[in-house]
Amino acid sequence: MKKVYLAMSADIIHHGHINVIKEASKLGDVTVGILTDAVIAGYKRFPLLSFAERKAIIENIKGVSRVVPQETLDYVPNLLALRPDYVVHGDDWRTGVQKTIRQRVIDTLKQWGGQLVEVKYTEGVSITQLDEAIHKIGTTPSTRLHRLRRLLEIKPQIRVLEAHNGLTALIVEKTKVQQNGKVKEFDALWLSSLCDSTAKGKPDIELVDLTSRLNTINEILEVTTKPIILDGDTGGQIEHFIFTVKTLERLGVSAVIIEDKIGLKKNSLFGTDVKQTQDSIENFAQKIRAGKKAQVTEDFMVIARIESLILKAGLEDALARAKAYIAAGADAIMIHSKEKDPDEIYAFCGEYAKFPYRVPLVAVPTSYNHVTEQELQAAGVNIVIYANHLIRSAYPAMQKTARTILEHERSLECDADLMPINEILTLIPGGK
Ligand code: SPV
Ligand code: MG
Repeated sequence: MKKVYLAMSADIIHHGHINVIKEASKLGDVTVGILTDAVIAGYKRFPLLSFAERKAIIENIKGVSRVVPQETLDYVPNLLALRPDYVVHGDDWRTGVQKTIRQRVIDTLKQWGGQLVEVKYTEGVSITQLDEAIHKIGTTPSTRLHRLRRLLEIKPQIRVLEAHNGLTALIVEKTKVQQNGKVKEFDALWLSSLCDSTAKGKPDIELVDLTSRLNTINEILEVTTKPIILDGDTGGQIEHFIFTVKTLERLGVSAVIIEDKIGLKKNSLFGTDVKQTQDSIENFAQKIRAGKKAQVTEDFMVIARIESLILKAGLEDALARAKAYIAAGADAIMIHSKEKDPDEIYAFCGEYAKFPYRVPLVAVPTSYNHVTEQELQAAGVNIVIYANHLIRSAYPAMQKTARTILEHERSLECDADLMPINEILTLIPGGK
């Protein structure tokens, strides 16, 4: 019996896939390589179904003898291991980003006289359209809540951007960039206290209360499916934090980050220019423990944010706190810095890497913004938060428009900077 290999993500299955499997089974014994969660998340989007679920589906399709994981987009490692007589694929990969992968398949098969067989692409079915249809259905609180933990399991680093209302959340949800055959997007939304407060014309001093923050959260929940990380400021009184955790968890928020400060909270980027007081290790650890005890699911994450570098309390203090907060049950540690130079962040990361028990590490590279995601990943950072960038880009644009109207006593001169009326009318589907 000839050996046949084909690969797929099998996240959304349609008759085109069944046709490829059917054609493959006419040639011999079929092994299907299923792309792992990490591969799909790395080049396309977060997989709807886990690898185990996708494997179970494909194993039970007629004509499939076995399923193996394919751990790279590139077929070559699996081909070398299996040495199939045939590889079967739709003929749609002759052009576009998959061209190189196809050529590597042909070259590898040549080594043992194997052959690539291309099946005519099934017209009239588009994964992109199916994807959009699924997106329209939305998500459930529990699916969304769990998704942050799943992302942390399958990706070495996740990328998070600030949103402070429905529209900015849609930007985080939908913006995609194609680069080197990969689709890049944001993995999750950061509900910054600074941006939520600023958007409401209020200072970032825990003045915008939980009820008001919940309005923003609800607005965002309604129009997105990606996981949400809430900036929970100090978490407030321990007795209050317990209720906050329960409320957030019920809504499907994946994580709350609380910072180890007490008293009147000021934004960290003021550093020591304003009076800010760090909480005691004991009290903050107690808050973490209370939060962890309050949650109902296994999924919700309480993330402890260490302000020692912001408040010039030193690296040793930051490390001692990290150890204590992990021991108290923190699901991740955020280390914050307001220095342009990333040295203190790197110093923390270097020591943190030596901890015998670690949880994911979060960084917010607002001031040290020349540092790349890859560099932070090499230092051990698992979550990168772009904490305030949408509001900071929107405000100058709006201010410019207001000034231009005042200067010219009409709006014609603004036109070059504005989205056409037609586009704004149709920006959000369903308005017509
Ligand atoms: C926020 O975005 O509100 C934060 C991060 O807490 S920072 O502004 O850098 O303190
Ligand atoms: Mg904040």
